[in-house]
Amino acid sequence: MDVTQLEAKVRDYGARNYKPLDVMVTKGEGIWVEDINGKRYMDCLSAYSSLNQGHCHPRILAALVDQAKKLHLTSRAFKNDMLPRFYQKICNLAGLDACLPMNTGTEAVETALKAARKYAHEFMNIDSNGGNIIACKNNFHGRTISIVSFSSEPLYRDGFGPYTPGFKLVPFGDAIAFEEAIDDSTIGILLEPIQGEGGILLPPDGYLARVREFCNERGILMILDEIQTGLGRTGKMFAHDWEEIKPDILILGKALSGGMYPVSAMLARRDIMDVFAPGTHGSTFGGNPLACAVAIAALDVIVEENLPNRALELGKYLMKELGKIQSRVIKEIRGRGLLVGIELVEDARPYCEMLLNRGILCKDTHGTTIRIAPPLIIERDEIDHLVSIMNEILS
Ligand SMILES: Cc1ncc(COP(=O)(O)O)c(C=O)c1O
Repeated sequence: MDVTQLEAKVRDYGARNYKPLDVMVTKGEGIWVEDINGKRYMDCLSAYSSLNQGHCHPRILAALVDQAKKLHLTSRAFKNDMLPRFYQKICNLAGLDACLPMNTGTEAVETALKAARKYAHEFMNIDSNGGNIIACKNNFHGRTISIVSFSSEPLYRDGFGPYTPGFKLVPFGDAIAFEEAIDDSTIGILLEPIQGEGGILLPPDGYLARVREFCNERGILMILDEIQTGLGRTGKMFAHDWEEIKPDILILGKALSGGMYPVSAMLARRDIMDVFAPGTHGSTFGGNPLACAVAIAALDVIVEENLPNRALELGKYLMKELGKIQSRVIKEIRGRGLLVGIELVEDARPYCEMLLNRGILCKDTHGTTIRIAPPLIIERDEIDHLVSIMNEILS
């Protein structure tokens, strides 16, 4: 089938819930991908920060192939020998006691919400049908009915009611507003350390630490969604490491598998995790041996290739070089590590289309922001190449 025929199949058979840029990718290696006509592009989206380790990392690929030949799925009806190895690796890395593996990020968020509610009903004197979880305006945590119930984005939420009750919204980055919203029904707060889909929005310094303090004072749970910011992206292993705090519940996904396979996880203190007794929660695929083997290799690559530190150094360099671009359309450049947003004074989509024509894959987010999030294995001269094209397009 040629490109036109493939496009026709998408039009005829596909759901219309995406509007991808006009490139059909067929191959990927490291930070580069190739389209169906053999043209090369630098991937500066990394599947929304899933490909921190790059496309087709040989070590992760080998782990996938080796494990696929041995054992790929048992379901949790039986034990498998890879899951304990994954547990140990991820819990040690995150500094949390226990892990519950799932598949997609959204499922791990749902798992965290269930854990928080059950913990509140068992230990926080909150009525078994009550309790509120505070979330932030402009959040993105996934697409299920419950999660879109507390979205403030009409596009994600409208038309999907009736909505799940039990959530309250406060402005992101405003610790006082959070403190004022806490009452006897509050179970905890769910938030992203940096709002990714919201437009790469950083809270003021000290915000996470302040939220942590309020949660301690009021005996409520701090739940961090690090699906996009975790595992090296912001220049530390986790974005919460910037403020030297630990959440009570941590949610990971995306780069947990290097994008090779859907793997997500909810991590928590032991007393929180123990609200799940046999039968109370589960997943046919969660914790399967293939997922575990891939995740172990993906985590080893992050640690052994020192990816958080690369993101830190190269992120600083990228921000410095982008800052030199003289452009009437740039309003602000913000970010941390290799998660960078260029906020424009106008719609970002046409600029992403121009970048595409010049061999750079970027995605607009929240209308006016160009998100730059390349694999963390990017080299300095590749950043120079990226910046020179950005300069051409934006100035
Ligand atoms: C912060 C955050 N939470 C949750 C999700 C949902 O993850 P998934 O698409 O794997 O379900 C995403 C995806 O972009 C995300 O960025």
